[in-house]
Amino acid sequence: MQSAETKKTKMRATCKKCVWLILVFGFLLALVHIWSPGNSSRVDIRPKEWSPINTNLNGKLQKAVNDFQDIPYHIKEDAACRLARNTCVCVADKKTVNLPFSNLLWPQAWAHDISMAFLESHPDPKGVKQRRAKEYQSFQRRSYDPTDVLVVAEAQSPLQYPTQGVKVRPLKTIIIPGLGLKEEKQSNHSVHLTATLGTFDVAATVDRVYVTGVGEKQMTVWSPVLSALNRQLQFVTYTNTVFHPRTADTIQFATTGHSAFFTIKVGHGTMPTLYNFGSQKEYNISALVTIATKTFLRYDKLNDLINSIRQYYPTVTIVIADDNQHPQPVTGPYIEHYIMPFGKGWFAGRNLAVSQVTTKYVLWADDDFIFTANTKLEMMVDILEKTTLDMVGGAVREVTGYTATFRHTMSVEEGGEEGDCLHIRQGYHHVIDGFPNCVVADAVINFFMGRTDKLQQVGFNPRLARQGHLEFFVDALGSLHIGSCSDIIVSHASKIKLPWTKSDQQKAYDKFRYTQSNSDDNLHNEIYYFKNRFKCMTSN
Ligand SMILES: *[C@@H]1O[C@H](CO)[C@@H](O)[C@H](O)[C@H]1NC(C)=O
Ligand SMILES: *[C@@H]1O[C@H](CO)[C@@H](O)[C@H](O)[C@H]1NC(C)=O
Repeated sequence: MQSAETKKTKMRATCKKCVWLILVFGFLLALVHIWSPGNSSRVDIRPKEWSPINTNLNGKLQKAVNDFQDIPYHIKEDAACRLARNTCVCVADKKTVNLPFSNLLWPQAWAHDISMAFLESHPDPKGVKQRRAKEYQSFQRRSYDPTDVLVVAEAQSPLQYPTQGVKVRPLKTIIIPGLGLKEEKQSNHSVHLTATLGTFDVAATVDRVYVTGVGEKQMTVWSPVLSALNRQLQFVTYTNTVFHPRTADTIQFATTGHSAFFTIKVGHGTMPTLYNFGSQKEYNISALVTIATKTFLRYDKLNDLINSIRQYYPTVTIVIADDNQHPQPVTGPYIEHYIMPFGKGWFAGRNLAVSQVTTKYVLWADDDFIFTANTKLEMMVDILEKTTLDMVGGAVREVTGYTATFRHTMSVEEGGEEGDCLHIRQGYHHVIDGFPNCVVADAVINFFMGRTDKLQQVGFNPRLARQGHLEFFVDALGSLHIGSCSDIIVSHASKIKLPWTKSDQQKAYDKFRYTQSNSDDNLHNEIYYFKNRFKCMTSN
């Protein structure tokens, strides 16, 4: 048996060997590094909005805009007033008629000055304004997309080139399609190519054509024979040399006296999220859909919801997020019950529940809803499968018989330095072909089904603890395609109850959910003002 002492000495010896090996290896690595040809692998990946080529492009655009200044013009009022002016102001609709019920007949938009509401009560309004401006700047730099740059193919240019649609994977090579030169016969026909994030080469050579700058960011191709040059241009390749998962390179393509620009998109493709749910002829709701809900102080309501779901969908999974102070067990087959810290809140619960869903679709239901024969989840799946919608809302029937769909449209109007304006209106954009009871909108009721991955991408801001519904749809603007169907109906358990018939639990719930304090108001204002950079919200 070895003594502890000899073991230690042995270990020390092995360690010394290790260190020695590491040192030798490191030295070799360093040598390789020093000797490697000039091409250092360090790249600048700071967000960029401007490159020398952009300046050049901008100059050309200026010229195009400034041409023909001396020719008079006439403004066409009805068309011109539809142009976005990007200088929104915070004003409510003016009252036009003053009749009884005129508010109901001609609903008017109100306006809420978010800037004022938030900054007025803020101890450091100047500081918070500056921070928001700074964050916005860096957001703009990060989200800058070179393919958004306006590129004009000039008239009468002898150059032929692709204006859009050329793509290359990061650090890979492609043939640039469509390059050509059409000009009068001369002794020397030549073109120049310039790139920023890659290099040029030719995939084949053509006799009597001369190429300089192969493997570099600038390449010149010339020939005394135009047809030979054009043949050669069919073999020009582009290799991306600076890794970026999603960007674009602006290429300058020039000949004597003319130059043109086009972009090559650089990036990985969008990774798909596909769900493997078998191949039945009819939709298998249990395999496709998970029902998510959040409960707080209302186990009686929750049990009614679960029982009503089980009547129609006995094996669909139900995910419950629960932030009660004294959680009670909720058991049964196909039920997942997640206990959260006390009072975590509304959106945190939605986040948690939706994060646990593994099916293609998730249905959101409040814990006081009741499924009926009209709650046809198959119809929601059907429209999501057959259209480009990411999310579809249903309708909620109140005890009184009134059925609500809560359809709204939203738009953001630019408003300069102070922030933008959010405009919310009741209504929708289009009726959906083939689904006469369904429309396209920007915000829907809190009974909806969506593609799980898309809802997870948008997320629910967990800071919104007690109230919040529209905030999700503001975050979803531009990323979710949303519909609303009036014929998929869930029932609402009695909401309007006379105060003296309420149970203690109901009273406690109402106190928690509906007493909105000043700090809640302020939170909403802060989120709109800072996170979304709004100065104003108008709605009707
Ligand atoms: C043809 O033009 C190219 C580019 O301007 C130039 O590099 C090349 O030397 C010229 N060839 C002759 C023969 O003049
Ligand atoms: C529907 O899906 C569930 C869950 O994946 C599965 O257990 C069940 O057998 C399926 N039903 C049919 C009819 O295929």
